[in-house]
Amino acid sequence: MKSLHSSQLRSLFLKFFQDHGHAVISSASIIPENDPTVLFTTAGMHPLVPYLMGAKHPAGNRLCDVQKCVRTGDIDDVGDFSHLTFFEMLGNWSLGDYFKEQMIPWSWEFLTSPEYLGLPKERLAFSVFAGDDDCPRDEESARLWRSMGVPEERVFYLPKENNWWGPAGLTGPCGPDTEMFIITDKEPCGPDCSPACSCGRYLEIWNDVFMQYNKQADGSFAPLAQKNVDTGMGLERTICVLNGKKSVYDTDLFEGILGKIAELSGKRYGSDEETTRAFRIVADHIRTATFILGDDRGVAPSNVDQGYVLRRLIRRAVRYGMGLGLPEGFTGEIAQVIIEQYREPYPELERNRHFVLEQLALEETRFAKTLKQGTREFEKLVARVQNETIDGESAFHLYDTYGFPVEMTLELAKEKGLAVDLEGFQERFRQHQATSQAGAEQRFKGGLADHSDETARLHTATHLLHAALRKVLGPEVAQKGSNITAERLRFDFSFGRKMTPEEITAVEQLVNEAIQAKYPITCEEMTVADAKEHGAIGLFESRYGELVKVYSMGPFSKEICGGPHAGNTGDLGRFKIQKEESSSAGVRRIKAVIQS
Ligand code: ALA
Repeated sequence: MKSLHSSQLRSLFLKFFQDHGHAVISSASIIPENDPTVLFTTAGMHPLVPYLMGAKHPAGNRLCDVQKCVRTGDIDDVGDFSHLTFFEMLGNWSLGDYFKEQMIPWSWEFLTSPEYLGLPKERLAFSVFAGDDDCPRDEESARLWRSMGVPEERVFYLPKENNWWGPAGLTGPCGPDTEMFIITDKEPCGPDCSPACSCGRYLEIWNDVFMQYNKQADGSFAPLAQKNVDTGMGLERTICVLNGKKSVYDTDLFEGILGKIAELSGKRYGSDEETTRAFRIVADHIRTATFILGDDRGVAPSNVDQGYVLRRLIRRAVRYGMGLGLPEGFTGEIAQVIIEQYREPYPELERNRHFVLEQLALEETRFAKTLKQGTREFEKLVARVQNETIDGESAFHLYDTYGFPVEMTLELAKEKGLAVDLEGFQERFRQHQATSQAGAEQRFKGGLADHSDETARLHTATHLLHAALRKVLGPEVAQKGSNITAERLRFDFSFGRKMTPEEITAVEQLVNEAIQAKYPITCEEMTVADAKEHGAIGLFESRYGELVKVYSMGPFSKEICGGPHAGNTGDLGRFKIQKEESSSAGVRRIKAVIQS
């Protein structure tokens, strides 16, 4: 086998397909544009779905590229020799053009020709689809491999579980595939050893998918209008195999990154198992984080969607980095190495360098601040744990107060042989989401330059509405969310059915009476316990005995809130409910205005 640098493999692959009439296209964004079902681009075909379904691609019907991909499903396995959360996928496509009889000989040529990868033919094995009710056995692919000189015993027929690819989301193009494997030095694990087993004898390096079906929402497979080819070869893994390395981390792709970690920590990669694992986790996670932040559609760390995955990656890296003794600011130092290394194939990293470094520094600081305290809190928790399980409330406390992603609590708990009550956590998390919607509204309002009187009035009306709803519908009504624009208020609350027109009128009337009563609005600071004792309602639970503001509107309403409010209910004008509708299961939504 010949040794290749990763940049040589990229250009060899693209050149091969260019020579066969393919247009080279750029990697698409790592954040899919029009697909709400997946957070990240997970394969080269992903951005090409519309073209696999029949739309015309501007570059033609033969394409090839190197696509940035993120797959975080196996994040907890990162640290072993092969798992990565970011990787590059070399791929080529026929959009209704050539099919198996062309693709399989090309794959063979690229893998075995001394001009390209020059892999020894006797070390290659192949799998093809065994067939089922949805799609027949792929005799044609098997025949094509045999016609290349591959002996029968190195062509394996495997079921859908192994030899079917896609769709990338819930629905879309998919089909049977043929996969190509390197046979390693490992002995067969038994008489049935095949590429389907995980013993490590067979390492997959390339996958040719024959995309001829569209998986529908009901789970059935409808034939596509055109027959496509979609292939994917993992750059990291192929470089590893080609250069006879034991791990993807031993390839040129990680040399600079691991070197930087060694330099900053004073530790040696490979010195012992634990250190090796920590080096790999830091290297992998910061590389992925750099690509997510450095994408032209890059997001910042947050508590939702891609931002949450990014947050998890950075925080996990920081935790392991601290274990290695990496100094503050190390995430940025490592990112600089990554940007240098990748700026040629991915110039967006350079364009977004400032954002990458700024966001890494911010998130590292945010987390480092609470990590020590959180870890102490975690240790205390472990000491008083019951039934070997960390309860949901405590897990939520670690999340909410110390910024521990729940996955991190799970991981820490596992190290101590403990479980975490995930359901309890999620229950608590959902409550929190309802309150933080109200919090987001506060921030939004706080961000308004003028703190406009109109929003303050609508906010005051929200309190009156909340109180009136409880008087009319019962005390089980609780706020689930609130959103205010300059024009209207929107209030979500727990209630199991549609309100009757009479109830709506009664609520409107109560609010208008409170407005006409011209109650002065007063504010006091007290502990949550005191507030509850005084009969205040509110969303916020106290853990630390901190003071909260309680707004009173005469005898009508008393509620924990951050403000701001009108000075007197009489300032409000006439209150009118415009809409009462369902928001989600067990939650109703009211939209209302005040008319002057
Ligand atoms: N889309 C195929 C894969 O990801 C090529 O393996």
